[in-house]
Amino acid sequence: MNWPASVTIKEVGPRDGLQNEKVFVATEDKIAWINQLSGTGMKSLEITSFVNPRWIPALADAAEVAKGIKRMPGITYSALVPNRQGLERALEANVDEAAVFMSASETHNQRNINKSISITFPILREVVQAALSAGKSVRGYVSTVFGCPYEGPVSIDEVIRVSDKLFEMGISELSLGDTIGIANPKQVQDILGMLLKRFDAKKLALHFHDTRGTALANILVSMDMGITTFDASVGGLGGCPYAPGASGNVASEDLLFMLDAMGIQTGVNQEKLLSAARFIQEKIGRTLPSRNLQVDSSNE
Ligand code: HMG
Ligand code: MG
Repeated sequence: MNWPASVTIKEVGPRDGLQNEKVFVATEDKIAWINQLSGTGMKSLEITSFVNPRWIPALADAAEVAKGIKRMPGITYSALVPNRQGLERALEANVDEAAVFMSASETHNQRNINKSISITFPILREVVQAALSAGKSVRGYVSTVFGCPYEGPVSIDEVIRVSDKLFEMGISELSLGDTIGIANPKQVQDILGMLLKRFDAKKLALHFHDTRGTALANILVSMDMGITTFDASVGGLGGCPYAPGASGNVASEDLLFMLDAMGIQTGVNQEKLLSAARFIQEKIGRTLPSRNLQVDSSNE
């Protein structure tokens, strides 16, 4: 297999990780946690979500969090933005990057953002243009690339169509979401094989949820095919409330353990990451899915 010399891990725990939690993590704890994450060596942190707080109550304090954290030079502080109203809130809170999102399957798009795919395009186009004009970078997500909780298999043509539209709007990077953690390495190889005929590997990121334990295997295949950016969540927190059965992202510390052991550079410090994972595990009050976190605490 071909291994890259270095990989970028994008930490999405404060957004994807917390959005599905029943426990409301206090704003000051979110801020303290993000400040810890800023010290781990991560260069990109998705810190919150400027969606409708009635849809995602766990992140209702998005503005306070974005305004309250200490910004470290060299780190991109990103936030999820669904529409113009969300962008205005994100700009007011001075995030560095807006992350727009939609699904490759009609039903998940409808359940998640209350709109059809075709109605979503002009809304996101306006958001991307306004964000770029305000000097922000824009990242895009396509969800349900490997399967939809409502429709099952998703057509690759639809994934390509949605991805094309997002790149045409001006996003700089597209994160391909395995929203319900259903992808397997052979499928990743097939789907990426088709996408890489069209899109540069450097502009693609993979976002694996680890619902069925295949995330690291999927990452290995993706790296072999030239992908070097992966989203992950400290503790293995995460999940989409509008995707039944979706559980956490691949745990950042599990991914880091594997990459470190393989000699692949990330710039991230495992001890600091584990300390941030222990912090949020305690605030959430349950054992989190991360393997390395449990190894670590059982050794103490
Ligand atoms: P809607 O109800 O259709 O919105 O929601 P609307 O435009 O009709 O407005 C209705 C009300 O919402 C109005 O308030 C608006 O002001 C308010 P009212 O007049 O009734 O008091 N509103 C907002 N308030 C604050 N911020 C906003 C905003 N927009 C409207 N930005 C909307 C449409 C998209 C807002 C809603 O469906 C929503 O918030 N959805 C978010 C769902 C979500 O966050 N899902 C999880 C993230 S996606 C994910 O996890 C997948 C990913 O990780 C990748 C993967 O794993 O595949 C990214
Ligand atoms: Mg996700």
